[in-house]
Order: sequence, then C-alpha cells, then structure tokens
Amino acid sequence: MRLNKTLAWVLTLMATSPVAYAQTEADAGAALIAQGEKVAIASDCQACHTAPGSKTAFSGGYAIASSMGAIYATNITPSAQGIGGYSEAQFARAIREGIRPDGAHLYPAMPYTSYHLMTDEDVHALYAYFMHGVKPVDQANTPTKLPFPFNLRFSMGMWNAIFGNTDSYKVDESKSAEWNRGNYLVNGLAHCDTCHTPRNFMMAEKHDQPLAGAPLGSWYAPNITSDPISGIGGWREDELVSYLKTGRAEGKNQAAGSMAEAVEHSLQYSPDSDLKAIAVYLKGTAPIRTPGETAPAFTYGKPVSVETAIRGDAPNNAYNALDNGAKLFSGNCASCHQPDGAGSPNQAYPSLFHNTATGMIHPDNLVSAILFGVRRTTQDHDVLMPAFSSPTYVDQLTDQQIADISNYVLHNYGNPQVTVEAGDVAWMRKGGRLPFLAAAQPYMVPGIAVGIVVVILLLIGLRLRRSRQKHKS
Ligand code: HEC
Ligand code: HEC
Ligand code: HEC
Repeated sequence: MRLNKTLAWVLTLMATSPVAYAQTEADAGAALIAQGEKVAIASDCQACHTAPGSKTAFSGGYAIASSMGAIYATNITPSAQGIGGYSEAQFARAIREGIRPDGAHLYPAMPYTSYHLMTDEDVHALYAYFMHGVKPVDQANTPTKLPFPFNLRFSMGMWNAIFGNTDSYKVDESKSAEWNRGNYLVNGLAHCDTCHTPRNFMMAEKHDQPLAGAPLGSWYAPNITSDPISGIGGWREDELVSYLKTGRAEGKNQAAGSMAEAVEHSLQYSPDSDLKAIAVYLKGTAPIRTPGETAPAFTYGKPVSVETAIRGDAPNNAYNALDNGAKLFSGNCASCHQPDGAGSPNQAYPSLFHNTATGMIHPDNLVSAILFGVRRTTQDHDVLMPAFSSPTYVDQLTDQQIADISNYVLHNYGNPQVTVEAGDVAWMRKGGRLPFLAAAQPYMVPGIAVGIVVVILLLIGLRLRRSRQKHKS
C-alpha cells in the first residue's frame, strides 16, 4: 500500500516537467520557511537569543538574569558553533523537552516548560526556518557558570521528573477554535505563563494559580486572570489587543520591563487574529482574586497638583537639594507627567492615576519604572522614560528619594494603602528579592557538609549501639 503510494508519487513527479517540479518544491519550501518564521515570532525566540544591540539575529550571548545567576542564551543560527548539526528530532527535543543532543539538560530559562505544547507541524516549520531562513553566524557561546548545586545540569532532569510536562497541545472540543488558539499561544508559544504564573519554592509554576501574577526580578507580572478586581476582567477586549500590539492601553497600563520586550520582539508582529484569540482566552480564564485587593488597580487616584504645595519654596531643581516626595516629583517627574499627574494631552506621557503601575497592591512596577526607565520601540512609536539610576542622562536618585517619590505618587495618584521603604528600593535596584532556592544557595555546601557529618555520627552511634547489644547478649 505504502509502496504503491510512493510509486504513484514518483510517477507523478516524472510526468511533470523537471523545471515545474523544482518550482513547486521551492514554493513549498519557501512557504514552510515563512510559516516557521511566524512560529519563531509568536514564540519570541529573538528576545532571548539575540543580544541587545547585536547585528546578527539569533547568535546568542544575551545574559538572562536569573536569581541563581546569569544564564546565557546560545547561538541558534545554523552554523557549526550554533545548531547547524541538529537533526529535526534533536531540535524538537531541545525545544519541547529542554534536552540537548549531548543529553545535557537546559535550564528552564529556555521556556521548554511551555514549548512542550508546540505541535509537530509548528516544530517542523520552525526547523525549516532555522536551517534555511536564518543566516549562519560563527559566534562562540558564552558559558553559563551557576554556583553549586545549580551547575549540575542533571539536577534539571530530576526537576523535570517532578515538575515537568511533555504533553503536546490537546484541543478542547467544547471550546471555540479562537479560544483554543488563545490557549495554545498563552500557555505554549508566547509562554505568557512563564512570567505571569506564580512559582513554588522550587521555582516551578503553581498549576493551581495559573496567570495569577508573580514577582519577576525587579518587576511584577500582574494577575491577568479574568478576575474583575485583581485581573483583566475590567479590561475591554480591544484594550487588551491594543496593549499587546502597542504596549499601551489608555487608562490601564503601559508595558515596561520584560513586557516591553515581549511587545517589541514578538506581539507587535502577531496577526490581529492571534491577539484577539489571546484576549478571548484571557477573558475566559478562571478568575483568581489577589488577597487584599478590593478595587481594580486602574480605578485609583485623581489629579492632584503638586505646585500649590511647594510654591514659594527654594528652587527645586538644584541637584539633590529636594528633600520630600512632592518636591522630588515636581523636579523629576512633573515635566513629563504634568504637575497634576494627568500626563500629556495625547498620553504619550501617560497619566499616573488610572494606571495599574500605581494602583496595584505591588508597587514594584512604579519603583522599577523610576529606577530603570521605560523603553519600547514599536512600528508606530518610540517610547522613552529615562532611568533615574546609573547609567542615565538625568539625575540619579537615592533609594530614600525614590521611596519618597513613590509614596507621594501612591498617596495621590495610586493605591494609598501601599507604601514603599528605602529598603524595598534597594532590593529592586539589585534585581529583586531572592526566591527561596537562591537565598538558600550559600548554605547548601555547608548544609551538605553538616549533613554528611551528621550521617557519619549517626552511623558511628548505630555501630556502637549494635556492638554494645552484641556484648550484652
Ligand atoms: C526566555 C528566553 C528564551 C526564549 C524565549 C527562547 N530561548 Fe532558547 N534558550 C534560552 C537559553 C537561556 C538557553 C540556554 C540554556 C542553558 O544553557 O541551559 C537556550 C537554549 C536553546 C537551545 C539549545 C542550544 C544549545 O545547543 O545549547 C535551542 C535549540 C533553543 N534554545 C532554541 C530556541 C528556539 C527555537 C526558541 C523559540 C521557539 C527559543 N529557543 C526561545 C532562552 C530562551
Ligand atoms: C518575560 C515576562 C513576560 C511575558 C513573557 C509576558 N508578560 Fe505580560 N507583563 C509582564 C510584566 C513585567 C508586566 C508589567 C508591565 C508594566 O507594568 O510595565 C506585564 C503586564 C501585562 C499586562 C498588563 C496587566 C496590568 O494589570 O497592567 C497584560 C494584560 C499582560 N502582561 C499580558 C501578557 C500576555 C497575554 C502575555 C503573552 C502573550 C504576556 N503578558 C507575556 C511580563 C511578561
Ligand atoms: C522624559 C519624560 C519622563 C519623565 C521625566 C518621567 N517619565 Fe514616567 N513615563 C514616561 C514615558 C514616556 C512613559 C511610558 C509611556 C508609554 O509606555 O507609552 C512613562 C511611564 C511611567 C510609568 C508607568 C510604568 C509602568 O510600568 O507601567 C510610571 C509609574 C511613571 N512613568 C512614573 C514616573 C515618575 C514617578 C517619574 C519621576 C521620577 C517619571 N515617571 C519621570 C516619561 C517620563
């Protein structure tokens, strides 16, 4: 049967003229490569595998700051130093299971934890794109050197055995095709879950709280479940689409930090139908309320002018001469966000009230926007808010000054129940509070040494007892 089919196929090929055949094959190849490029964009491979400012796409070298240390994304161009030698099966295994051809495990900084959902069809197209649509670049990889025990790659095998999942995407027939596409994108290709789902003490996603919001280094990836108070339940579908496409939804939020990168490298190029599918899926997720939140983050605040409070005081723009939140706000922020916090008329400088960055129970995104600024380039605009920490072209602010400004902003334009202390700012400046595993790392070597000594003592004790019992009998 199979032989007959092959024979028929060969006969058809012989019947068509060689030129026409080559033409159709080239067309099919080009279509597959184009399809693979779409998968690569939706999966945001570029954001991690191209170093910022690099002229060569996918040549690696970008240091992903994990709380365990820097993890370097590798060269995935089809060169000898890249993945030129990968077969399609080896490529599929790396993407979906996080295992290299030499058997070594990848760190989950490479989101195989979501990509396991990728269909065979998409992996096949992606492979064609990386082998034939990407320019080979000879660039050596920067080795990743994590401290013990995270340097033991086989430990990731055990982690996968406990927390991993290798199931491919299963269509839910009870839901629409659009919802299924949204689910496939959110939890698979676009791996929104890797940032927006909270993690347990072993750094694995908590599957009982999908998309319920999570700290992400210095930033906070908000709750994007359908909950009307803590999540995106109060966002219209077109606001979600606009946010994903441009990084802006007026009266809601502007994408900064790694969300800006997701918009810049991936989401802005996604077809509107995909962005709509994501919105439909998010609006249909199970709502999860963040404890302590009583009103949607985007409903807080109103215009309050800083100028009346400080009029008549000393000039407030002398370097570091400003000593309280109102004055610091006037000197550093009001020029763009306006003295009353309402932003510019066209909202290119956004309002600080009716903004989730200031209304959320987590002040991380407000503090991090001040520390690191906001940068985002899309097809229709360039966004820049300067960083108020080094390196920058504006004044650098101290932890206390940033806490003072944040509290002024929170009290007037945002959630007045939230306060920021200088110590909180110090953590965010350093990249965020350490999760349990990273905080425990310095104690692991002495801990293991102590453990070994305890085991030896126990064994000696056991032998002594045995031999005593022997003597008694
Ligand atoms: C969130 C960041 C991130 C994204 C997105 C990402 N990768 Fe990776 N990838 C990494 C990191 C980091 C490594 C190296 C991990 C390690 O050393 O354990 C890696 C490793 C790999 C490897 C193994 C290469 C080798 O031999 O060392 C392949 C293949 C790969 N990625 C392909 C892809 C493809 C294709 C995509 C898009 C579908 C993608 N990656 C998206 C971060 C990412
Ligand atoms: C690499 C991490 C990362 C990924 C991947 C990511 N996000 Fe985000 N997201 C964030 C961060 C951080 C913020 C906060 C941005 C800010 O306030 O400036 C955010 C903000 C948002 C917001 C605004 C929520 C609010 O209440 O203000 C929405 C909506 C959102 N993300 C949806 C998504 C969707 C949908 C995806 C997948 C297509 C996604 N995100 C992928 C990190 C990420
Ligand atoms: C040079 C103009 C400028 C100055 C000065 C400035 N900002 Fe901004 N700010 C912006 C722009 C531009 C954005 C992003 C707009 C966008 O993404 O569409 C922004 C965004 C923000 C956001 C939203 C961040 C998020 O993650 O959602 C906050 C909060 C904010 N600014 C607070 C401040 C504070 C506080 C100060 C003073 C310390 C300040 N800004 C100074 C231009 C400025």
